[in-house]
Amino acid sequence: MTRTPASLVRAEPGPPYEITFDGRPLTALPGQSIAAALWAAGILSWRTTRDGGAPRGAFCAVGTCYDCLATVNGRPNRRACIVPARPGDAVTTQKGSGHDELAV
Ligand code: FES
Repeated sequence: MTRTPASLVRAEPGPPYEITFDGRPLTALPGQSIAAALWAAGILSWRTTRDGGAPRGAFCAVGTCYDCLATVNGRPNRRACIVPARPGDAVTTQKGSGHDELAV
């Protein structure tokens, strides 16, 4: 038997639903944060830094460090570690501040 965090606490989440990451369909479970759904799919990085474009993902996982910023449904700078995944969410890689297209 595979041990998972859900099995360890005997969680019985509702039915899974679909979100997308950069257009790729992923499965999320009720109660998962966007970061948790990305991790479960093996995705560890969903942002690049303003200086140098270094990859970033979740670091603190409690909403403090802001390393996990993602663009969700076209809205940049969402902390993926504390934003719940919702059915149909479209998560996209955030480049820099998420407002690069506005730069002059
Ligand atoms: S991982 Fe630190 S704020 Fe989300």
